[in-house]
Amino acid sequence: MRYAIAMMAVLAVGAATSPAQAADPIKIKFSHVVADATPKGKGALEFKRLVEERLPGKVVVEVYPNSQLFGDAKEMEALLLGDVQFIAPSLSKFAKFTKKLQVFDLPFLFDDINAIDRFQKGKIGQGLLTSMESKGYTGLGYWHNGMKQLSANRLMRVPEDAKGLKFRIQPSDVLEAQFKALNANPQKMAFAEVYQALQTGTVDGQENTWSNIYSQKFHEAQKYITETNHGVIDYMVVTNTKFWKGLPADVRTVLSKSMDEATAYSNKLAEDINQADKKKIMDSGKTQIITLTKDQQAQWRKAMAPVYKQFAPDVGQDLIDAALSSNKSS
Ligand code: LMR
Repeated sequence: MRYAIAMMAVLAVGAATSPAQAADPIKIKFSHVVADATPKGKGALEFKRLVEERLPGKVVVEVYPNSQLFGDAKEMEALLLGDVQFIAPSLSKFAKFTKKLQVFDLPFLFDDINAIDRFQKGKIGQGLLTSMESKGYTGLGYWHNGMKQLSANRLMRVPEDAKGLKFRIQPSDVLEAQFKALNANPQKMAFAEVYQALQTGTVDGQENTWSNIYSQKFHEAQKYITETNHGVIDYMVVTNTKFWKGLPADVRTVLSKSMDEATAYSNKLAEDINQADKKKIMDSGKTQIITLTKDQQAQWRKAMAPVYKQFAPDVGQDLIDAALSSNKSS
């Protein structure tokens, strides 16, 4: 009996170090919280396609959409624990690790997605990618989703219309302050819980991009969507710093190149996906889209403006100024 156990142990050690085992591919789990048909969903699938085409048998990328593997409350922790290797949280979900990324949550900061793109590609934006390395997170790129719209079961044209309503927000103190400035009640909540919260009336409204509203069917639970374009949802693709630095250099080079190409691919599609989803929402007839006049838009901007003063010490006025200056293309 003792001999048999000893033999099994020898065989087990042999199997663990056999050439077949040594050649096992590196597995990358890429987890995210949105649908495959969104800008982030498509970017993740394009990254998988490029990597597996270039490193066949060497690297396998498994994409887990829709909070299937981890919801946004857990994914940051899972990345540090090595349970997942790539995630792409919205820039509103990093406040625990850096206050700087809060700049992206300031209302009416960027005129459009092109301004955001210029800021992210500039020196300061690129610097923010590595600003969380001491915490174990390495940023590999920014992915766009798009501008946020405001939905509720009450028709909202001016800021006073939002007063007293409960809004689901991402876990961001800036977004909390933004809704408080409207005399509304913000509630931090994971993305996967929003549809049900809207349906059951736990919250009255939410803010999100056209593609997230459409793919999660939020419009089916909301009577009105006001086209405010008051903020942005964009992402940072992050990996575990130790995992990244521990990869063989040739593999890391191919992953980097594939990430850059998947970034360009996803960012090019983002605006079109959002506009197409806006049209699908309109055509569904399930909700009414409210367009604002210039004057109404200015009222929302003014009502949310106090948030800047509140967060300038945390974010840094220099960072806010740099972001603002990206609105001018010249
Ligand atoms: C949200 O929580 O509303 C978004 O950040 C979801 C996402 O990843 O786009």
